Amino acid sequence: MKKQTKQQENKIQKQNEGDERIPVEIIQPWSTFVMKSKLPKVVFDKMLEITNKIVDNVENEKSWGHNLAGQIEHELYIEHEILQKNGVMQFFLDMTRHYVVNQLIQMMPYNQENILNDEWTTNMMSMWVVSQKEHEYNPMHIHTQCQVSAVMYLKVPKFSKSRKSHREDDGRIVFSNNCSLDDYFAVPQIALEPKVGDLYIFPAKMAHHVYPFRSDDEDKERRSVSFNAVYSSKSQMEHMAEMEKKAQEEMKKRSFVQ
Ligand SMILES: [Fe+2]
Repeated sequence: MKKQTKQQENKIQKQNEGDERIPVEIIQPWSTFVMKSKLPKVVFDKMLEITNKIVDNVENEKSWGHNLAGQIEHELYIEHEILQKNGVMQFFLDMTRHYVVNQLIQMMPYNQENILNDEWTTNMMSMWVVSQKEHEYNPMHIHTQCQVSAVMYLKVPKFSKSRKSHREDDGRIVFSNNCSLDDYFAVPQIALEPKVGDLYIFPAKMAHHVYPFRSDDEDKERRSVSFNAVYSSKSQMEHMAEMEKKAQEEMKKRSFVQ
Protein backbone atom coordinates (compact mmCIF):
# COMPACT_ATOMS: atom_id res chain seq x y z
CA MET A 1 0.00 0.00 0.00
CA LYS A 2 1.28 3.39 -1.01
CA LYS A 3 1.99 5.73 1.86
CA GLN A 4 -0.09 8.91 1.79
CA THR A 5 1.89 12.08 1.45
CA LYS A 6 1.42 14.84 4.00
CA GLN A 7 -0.27 16.86 1.23
CA GLN A 8 -2.83 14.09 0.56
CA GLU A 9 -3.56 13.73 4.27
CA ASN A 10 -4.18 17.46 4.57
CA LYS A 11 -6.54 17.34 1.57
CA ILE A 12 -8.63 14.54 3.14
CA GLN A 13 -8.65 16.38 6.46
CA LYS A 14 -9.89 19.54 4.72
CA GLN A 15 -12.64 17.58 2.92
CA ASN A 16 -13.83 16.10 6.22
CA GLU A 17 -13.92 19.52 7.82
CA GLY A 18 -16.04 20.81 4.95
CA ASP A 19 -19.71 20.24 4.24
CA GLU A 20 -19.80 16.49 4.69
CA ARG A 21 -21.70 15.52 7.83
CA ILE A 22 -20.81 12.22 9.43
CA PRO A 23 -23.91 10.52 10.86
CA VAL A 24 -23.63 9.21 14.39
CA GLU A 25 -26.32 7.10 16.03
CA ILE A 26 -26.44 6.05 19.66
CA ILE A 27 -27.98 2.59 20.07
CA GLN A 28 -28.82 1.64 23.63
CA PRO A 29 -31.82 -0.69 23.98
CA TRP A 30 -30.56 -2.38 27.18
CA SER A 31 -30.95 0.46 29.59
CA THR A 32 -33.64 2.69 31.02
CA PHE A 33 -33.20 6.36 31.87
CA VAL A 34 -34.37 8.97 34.35
CA MET A 35 -35.88 12.06 32.72
CA LYS A 36 -35.25 15.32 34.57
CA SER A 37 -37.52 18.30 34.07
CA LYS A 38 -38.92 21.35 35.89
CA LEU A 39 -42.45 22.04 37.06
CA PRO A 40 -43.89 25.08 35.29
CA LYS A 41 -44.57 27.85 37.84
CA VAL A 42 -48.35 27.51 37.56
CA VAL A 43 -48.15 23.73 38.28
CA PHE A 44 -45.64 24.22 41.09
CA ASP A 45 -47.84 26.84 42.80
CA LYS A 46 -50.92 24.61 42.53
CA MET A 47 -49.08 21.56 43.90
CA LEU A 48 -47.77 23.60 46.83
CA GLU A 49 -51.28 24.88 47.56
CA ILE A 50 -52.81 21.38 47.29
CA THR A 51 -50.19 19.76 49.51
CA ASN A 52 -50.22 22.63 52.05
CA LYS A 53 -53.88 21.88 52.70
CA ILE A 54 -53.20 18.14 53.02
CA VAL A 55 -50.06 18.41 55.21
CA ASP A 56 -51.66 21.06 57.47
CA ASN A 57 -54.73 18.85 57.91
CA VAL A 58 -52.74 15.63 58.47
CA GLU A 59 -55.09 14.13 61.11
CA ASN A 60 -58.03 14.02 58.69
CA GLU A 61 -56.15 12.97 55.56
CA LYS A 62 -55.78 9.51 54.04
CA SER A 63 -52.39 8.02 54.97
CA TRP A 64 -50.73 6.15 52.11
CA GLY A 65 -47.84 4.88 54.26
CA HIS A 66 -49.07 1.27 54.43
CA ASN A 67 -48.36 0.99 50.66
CA LEU A 68 -44.91 2.59 50.83
CA ALA A 69 -41.39 1.71 51.96
CA GLY A 70 -40.54 5.02 53.65
CA GLN A 71 -39.55 5.20 57.30
CA ILE A 72 -41.51 8.43 57.27
CA GLU A 73 -44.45 9.44 59.42
CA HIS A 74 -46.42 11.56 56.95
CA GLU A 75 -47.07 10.05 53.51
CA LEU A 76 -50.50 11.21 52.41
CA TYR A 77 -52.70 10.32 49.45
CA ILE A 78 -53.71 12.98 46.91
CA GLU A 79 -57.10 12.36 45.29
CA HIS A 80 -57.27 12.40 41.45
CA GLU A 81 -60.26 14.70 41.72
CA ILE A 82 -58.18 17.46 43.38
CA LEU A 83 -55.63 17.28 40.54
CA GLN A 84 -58.35 17.50 37.92
CA LYS A 85 -60.16 20.32 39.70
CA ASN A 86 -56.91 22.32 39.90
CA GLY A 87 -56.05 21.68 36.24
CA VAL A 88 -52.69 19.95 36.86
CA MET A 89 -53.55 16.33 36.00
CA GLN A 90 -53.01 16.79 32.25
CA PHE A 91 -49.47 18.14 32.75
CA PHE A 92 -48.41 14.99 34.60
CA LEU A 93 -50.06 12.70 32.03
CA ASP A 94 -48.38 14.59 29.16
CA MET A 95 -44.93 14.43 30.78
CA THR A 96 -45.39 10.72 31.44
CA ARG A 97 -46.36 10.16 27.80
CA HIS A 98 -43.26 12.07 26.71
CA TYR A 99 -41.13 9.77 28.88
CA VAL A 100 -42.84 6.60 27.58
CA VAL A 101 -42.44 7.49 23.89
CA ASN A 102 -38.76 8.39 24.30
CA GLN A 103 -38.03 5.30 26.36
CA LEU A 104 -39.74 3.03 23.80
CA ILE A 105 -37.82 4.63 20.93
CA GLN A 106 -34.59 3.97 22.83
CA MET A 107 -35.70 0.37 23.40
CA MET A 108 -36.76 -0.20 19.75
CA PRO A 109 -34.73 2.30 17.68
CA TYR A 110 -35.77 0.81 14.34
CA ASN A 111 -39.46 1.06 15.18
CA GLN A 112 -39.38 4.80 15.76
CA GLU A 113 -41.85 5.69 13.01
CA ASN A 114 -44.52 3.28 14.27
CA ILE A 115 -44.03 4.46 17.85
CA LEU A 116 -44.38 8.12 16.85
CA ASN A 117 -47.44 7.41 14.71
CA ASP A 118 -49.29 5.52 17.44
CA GLU A 119 -51.65 7.17 19.93
CA TRP A 120 -50.32 6.82 23.48
CA THR A 121 -52.49 7.12 26.56
CA THR A 122 -51.19 7.47 30.11
CA ASN A 123 -53.21 6.98 33.27
CA MET A 124 -52.45 8.03 36.81
CA MET A 125 -52.73 5.18 39.33
CA SER A 126 -51.89 7.01 42.55
CA MET A 127 -50.24 10.18 43.81
CA TRP A 128 -49.02 10.96 47.32
CA VAL A 129 -47.13 13.63 49.22
CA VAL A 130 -44.12 12.74 51.38
CA SER A 131 -43.47 15.20 54.18
CA GLN A 132 -40.01 14.03 55.23
CA LYS A 133 -38.47 15.41 58.42
CA GLU A 134 -34.97 15.26 59.90
CA HIS A 135 -33.62 11.69 60.37
CA GLU A 136 -36.44 10.06 58.38
CA TYR A 137 -35.47 8.09 55.28
CA ASN A 138 -36.74 5.94 52.43
CA PRO A 139 -35.01 2.55 52.08
CA MET A 140 -34.23 1.07 48.67
CA HIS A 141 -37.43 0.03 46.86
CA ILE A 142 -39.21 -0.19 43.53
CA HIS A 143 -42.82 0.71 42.67
CA THR A 144 -45.22 -2.13 41.86
CA GLN A 145 -48.51 -2.44 39.91
CA CYS A 146 -47.49 0.38 37.55
CA GLN A 147 -45.00 1.06 34.75
CA VAL A 148 -43.81 4.64 35.21
CA SER A 149 -43.13 6.64 38.36
CA ALA A 150 -42.23 10.23 39.17
CA VAL A 151 -41.06 12.44 42.00
CA MET A 152 -41.12 16.23 42.30
CA TYR A 153 -39.79 18.54 45.00
CA LEU A 154 -41.88 21.27 46.60
CA LYS A 155 -39.84 22.14 49.73
CA VAL A 156 -36.19 21.46 50.46
CA PRO A 157 -34.52 22.75 53.66
CA LYS A 158 -30.85 23.70 53.72
CA PHE A 159 -29.11 20.47 54.70
CA SER A 160 -26.43 20.67 57.39
CA LYS A 161 -22.89 20.08 56.21
CA SER A 162 -22.23 16.37 55.89
CA ARG A 163 -19.85 14.82 58.40
CA LYS A 164 -17.44 13.84 55.63
CA SER A 165 -16.63 16.53 53.10
CA HIS A 166 -16.07 13.99 50.30
CA ARG A 167 -19.62 12.57 50.65
CA GLU A 168 -22.64 14.83 50.19
CA ASP A 169 -25.32 12.14 50.46
CA ASP A 170 -27.67 13.64 53.07
CA GLY A 171 -31.21 14.20 51.79
CA ARG A 172 -30.38 12.96 48.29
CA ILE A 173 -32.35 10.51 46.18
CA VAL A 174 -30.29 7.68 44.71
CA PHE A 175 -31.34 5.84 41.55
CA SER A 176 -29.73 2.41 41.07
CA ASN A 177 -29.52 0.40 37.90
CA ASN A 178 -28.19 -3.08 37.34
CA CYS A 179 -28.20 -2.96 33.53
CA SER A 180 -24.46 -2.65 33.04
CA LEU A 181 -21.40 -4.47 34.35
CA ASP A 182 -19.08 -2.13 32.45
CA ASP A 183 -17.08 -0.12 34.95
CA TYR A 184 -15.16 1.85 32.32
CA PHE A 185 -18.21 3.53 30.81
CA ALA A 186 -21.09 3.09 33.26
CA VAL A 187 -21.87 3.57 36.92
CA PRO A 188 -24.65 1.62 38.62
CA GLN A 189 -26.08 4.53 40.62
CA ILE A 190 -26.44 8.28 40.86
CA ALA A 191 -27.25 10.44 43.92
CA LEU A 192 -29.24 13.54 43.00
CA GLU A 193 -29.66 16.60 45.16
CA PRO A 194 -33.33 17.59 45.42
CA LYS A 195 -34.03 21.14 44.20
CA VAL A 196 -37.34 22.93 44.57
CA GLY A 197 -39.36 22.55 41.35
CA ASP A 198 -37.38 19.60 39.93
CA LEU A 199 -39.37 16.73 38.43
CA TYR A 200 -37.91 13.28 37.75
CA ILE A 201 -39.71 10.58 35.75
CA PHE A 202 -38.30 7.05 35.85
CA PRO A 203 -39.28 3.43 35.18
CA ALA A 204 -41.26 1.98 38.10
CA LYS A 205 -38.86 -0.95 38.41
CA MET A 206 -35.78 1.24 38.89
CA ALA A 207 -34.60 0.81 42.49
CA HIS A 208 -34.18 4.05 44.44
CA HIS A 209 -33.74 5.26 47.99
CA VAL A 210 -33.55 8.55 49.92
CA TYR A 211 -30.99 9.31 52.62
CA PRO A 212 -31.94 11.03 55.89
CA PHE A 213 -30.79 14.60 56.53
CA ARG A 214 -30.10 17.14 59.27
CA SER A 215 -30.94 20.82 59.02
CA ASP A 216 -30.70 23.99 61.11
CA ASP A 217 -33.60 25.62 59.23
CA GLU A 218 -36.70 26.50 61.18
CA ASP A 219 -38.84 24.62 58.63
CA LYS A 220 -37.10 21.25 58.36
CA GLU A 221 -39.56 19.75 55.88
CA ARG A 222 -38.30 18.03 52.71
CA ARG A 223 -41.56 17.80 50.79
CA SER A 224 -41.88 15.67 47.66
CA VAL A 225 -44.82 14.38 45.66
CA SER A 226 -44.67 11.04 43.85
CA PHE A 227 -46.98 9.31 41.44
CA ASN A 228 -47.37 5.99 39.66
CA ALA A 229 -48.76 5.67 36.15
CA VAL A 230 -49.44 3.14 33.38
CA TYR A 231 -49.51 3.51 29.60
CA SER A 232 -51.15 1.91 26.58
CA SER A 233 -51.38 2.64 22.86
CA LYS A 234 -54.22 2.58 20.38
CA SER A 235 -52.56 -0.22 18.39
CA GLN A 236 -52.00 -2.27 21.58
CA MET A 237 -55.68 -1.88 22.49
CA GLU A 238 -56.79 -2.83 18.98
CA HIS A 239 -54.52 -5.88 19.06
CA MET A 240 -55.93 -6.96 22.43
CA ALA A 241 -59.52 -6.48 21.22
CA GLU A 242 -58.74 -8.61 18.16
CA MET A 243 -57.20 -11.35 20.33
CA GLU A 244 -60.23 -11.32 22.63
CA LYS A 245 -62.60 -11.55 19.64
CA LYS A 246 -60.68 -14.56 18.28
CA ALA A 247 -60.71 -16.28 21.69
CA GLN A 248 -64.46 -15.76 21.99
CA GLU A 249 -65.06 -17.15 18.48
CA GLU A 250 -62.93 -20.17 19.36
CA MET A 251 -64.95 -20.72 22.55
CA LYS A 252 -68.22 -20.49 20.61
CA LYS A 253 -67.01 -23.06 18.06
CA ARG A 254 -65.98 -25.45 20.85
CA SER A 255 -69.27 -25.19 22.69
CA PHE A 256 -71.12 -25.80 19.39
CA VAL A 257 -69.09 -28.98 18.67
CA GLN A 258 -69.74 -30.35 22.17
FE1 LIG B 1 -40.22 5.55 45.60
